Amino acid sequence: MYGFFTVFMFLCLVRSGMSNSVLDYGAVGDGETDDSQAFLKAWDSICESEEVSPRLIIPAGKTFLLNPVHFQGPCKAPNVRVSVEGNIIAPEMSKWNNGDESRWLGFFNVNGLIVTGSGQVDGNGQSWWGCAGKSTIVFHNCHNLQLRGLTFIDSPKNHISINDVHGATISNLHITAPEDSENTDGIDISESTNIEIRDLIIGTGDDCIAINGQSSFINITNVACGPGHGISVGSLGAHGAYDTVEEVHVKNCNFTNTQNGVRIKTWQGGSGYARKISFEQIFLDSVKNPVIIDQYYCTGGHCDTHAHQNVKISDVTYSGVHGSSRKTAAISLNCSRSVACTDIVMNDVKIDSVDPGIKTYSFCINAHGTSDSTSPDVPCLA
Ligand SMILES: *[C@@H]1O[C@H](CO)[C@@H](O)[C@H](O)[C@H]1NC(C)=O
Ligand SMILES: *[C@@H]1O[C@H](CO)[C@@H](O)[C@H](O)[C@H]1NC(C)=O
Ligand SMILES: *[C@@H]1O[C@H](CO)[C@@H](O)[C@H](O)[C@H]1NC(C)=O
Repeated sequence: MYGFFTVFMFLCLVRSGMSNSVLDYGAVGDGETDDSQAFLKAWDSICESEEVSPRLIIPAGKTFLLNPVHFQGPCKAPNVRVSVEGNIIAPEMSKWNNGDESRWLGFFNVNGLIVTGSGQVDGNGQSWWGCAGKSTIVFHNCHNLQLRGLTFIDSPKNHISINDVHGATISNLHITAPEDSENTDGIDISESTNIEIRDLIIGTGDDCIAINGQSSFINITNVACGPGHGISVGSLGAHGAYDTVEEVHVKNCNFTNTQNGVRIKTWQGGSGYARKISFEQIFLDSVKNPVIIDQYYCTGGHCDTHAHQNVKISDVTYSGVHGSSRKTAAISLNCSRSVACTDIVMNDVKIDSVDPGIKTYSFCINAHGTSDSTSPDVPCLA
């Protein structure tokens, strides 16, 4: 009987998993006390737990002020859950106790991490904008990651950074920062594969989503972007880098009042490739550069304008791309003069000017492929 009871208790524990609230570790949640150490202690106990699916709880109705905190793995359980029901806020710039960090929150080397909840993560970035800011949250070497439900606001720099992650589902997030806040990308992906991104609302001062080098098999579906700089592959090949991106599929996305819609950007002098990319069912409302390939991208000087190499772009499909452009050059395929873009396919593309009576046009340098039912006409595509 005693044995049965023990087994029964054990099953209950396994089923519910161990739960630790940060309050049990001394977190206060008044928005003013530094709760970083309490969070780290709670994390350590979750990470050391041998339960099947231990859970760290950040309870609702409170706001936790955290200095830069890094949650390190590997953890013992195959899945580790973090429930963010309350709010988390960063100190303002002058009060950061660890100014050397390039990021505020970080998860490192934690496989099977599941971060969910309806809480808000506030990067309190106002004082950083225009200075070299910090990322709000970084996931590095966290395979089979799930991130969903949260709201991210006002990051000092990019909101979410996904680096060296193989397998992730990122869904139902809301990411916002003012249109004029610098470098506040929504999600940056690099050196990552098999990433599914869906059902997001992103409005920031920079790219809604950017896919950087050494990334592949990235699906982006049902994203509303605006304001912001659109969804970008790149920039790739900066300062002579060899970068590769392939199998990126962007579908059912809306762009409202953005600088760009769907963009591929590379630097002169870089090498590698960007290929097998598709943009399907894209709706554009008053977008400045709706469809753009820019192989002359360069920021911050050191532009290698005489370079004879560039990242090779091929097999890019635009299908069902509709809406309005603020620039008359609605389609710009500015490919490298030395490395042609090949197999660029457009079909069912119709982009009008926001000004009634003004006609849009397309612009090409060294772009090759085919087009069908496309307006404006793209003469470089047969
Ligand atoms: C991306 O979409 C394709 C086609 O729908 C699917 O086969 C693939 O498994 C998806 N990949 C991810 C990472 O979601
Ligand atoms: C895009 O806009 C259309 C039309 O307004 C709407 O039906 C659809 O739900 C929107 N999609 C997203 C991802 O916001
Ligand atoms: C790219 O295309 C645009 C047209 O949208 C043109 O005005 C611009 O000068 C081109 N850039 C380069 C570097 O060729």
